[in-house]
Amino acid sequence: MADKIIAVVGATGSQGGALASAILNDRNGGFTCRAITRDPNKDKARELAAKGAEVVRADLDDRASLEKAFAGAHGAYCVTNFWEHFSAEKEKAQAKHLAEAAKAAGVKHVIWSTLEDTRKLMAAGDTRMPMLQQKYRVPHFDAKAEADAYFQGLPVTFLVTSFYWDNLYMFGMAPKKGEDGNYNWTLPMGNKRLAGIAAEDIGKVAYGIFKAGQQYVGKTVGITGENLTLSEMSQKLSAALGVDVTYNAVEPDAYRSFGFPGADEMGNMFQVYRDFEREVLGARSAEAARSLDPELQSFDQWIAKNKSKIPL
Ligand SMILES: NC(=O)c1ccc[n+]([C@@H]2O[C@H](COP(=O)([O-])OP(=O)(O)OC[C@H]3O[C@@H](n4cnc5c(N)ncnc54)[C@H](OP(=O)(O)O)[C@@H]3O)[C@@H](O)[C@H]2O)c1
Repeated sequence: MADKIIAVVGATGSQGGALASAILNDRNGGFTCRAITRDPNKDKARELAAKGAEVVRADLDDRASLEKAFAGAHGAYCVTNFWEHFSAEKEKAQAKHLAEAAKAAGVKHVIWSTLEDTRKLMAAGDTRMPMLQQKYRVPHFDAKAEADAYFQGLPVTFLVTSFYWDNLYMFGMAPKKGEDGNYNWTLPMGNKRLAGIAAEDIGKVAYGIFKAGQQYVGKTVGITGENLTLSEMSQKLSAALGVDVTYNAVEPDAYRSFGFPGADEMGNMFQVYRDFEREVLGARSAEAARSLDPELQSFDQWIAKNKSKIPL
């Protein structure tokens, strides 16, 4: 039987890239990777082609291009990148294109990389955090959750992801060096635990879902690698990297006022993690992740593997 094609949106990025690697590293797994990018000539796309992926051009803003890219595919991994435009409405429009294209192409198994609707955690009039973009608490969460509706009726698995530890080297989130030479981490998380995961494991879990197939259709799978407080993460970073990392807890209002692009959004997100620890952690399971990806990494394992990239 011919291998089944998985069309991977975001294949040049963290989540999709991890799934593409998982498929390409399993030559006899029965699946092939169709890597979707806006620019097949970029280095990452060329690397994927060299490793055996079929590289196809498509744009989330162009539904017809997605329909073509999904044609003949068994599976589609659907992810949107809020951080490229910071717009909840645009993220929803892109998700709608993905769902419509998957439907038109008759894809047999779709994974939608989603997050929860944080508005459901608080009363509408709750004043602990500002509403953003008129009607959202955490726009990149709430928009993805709203977009779940577009995928209803499709053979879909909703994958609820967690904060990638890779943000430490890719998203400028690493502890910053102070004048005393020690590192400080300023976040509004109090002493609550952060659900974290290696981006690599999101891809491996997604591959596990495609391999398992039908039993995951119609299901929501929430995943984490390990849930740790920022103090615990600081201790682990200090021990593994031989530096002194201190966690400095601030109030969300202070964090939102830091002024970097997305500070209000990130402040709201971390406040949701802090104020609704039970709900956020309850929606994610390391056991569920490990059952699909037996090599699921702990934070210590992730640090050991990524040491050279962490700017400490
Ligand atoms: N960082 C975290 O901790 C975290 C945790 C949970 C969820 N998320 C969510 O993850 C999403 C981003 O995923 P990521 O981290 O894998 O992204 P990433 O590493 O920044 O890469 C973005 C990917 O999206 C593709 N892309 C962006 N706009 C596109 C468009 N218009 N048409 C086609 N492809 C497009 C890019 O492809 P080309 O540039 O090659 O076209 C690239 O492959 C965000 O929405 C974020 O909310 C992040």
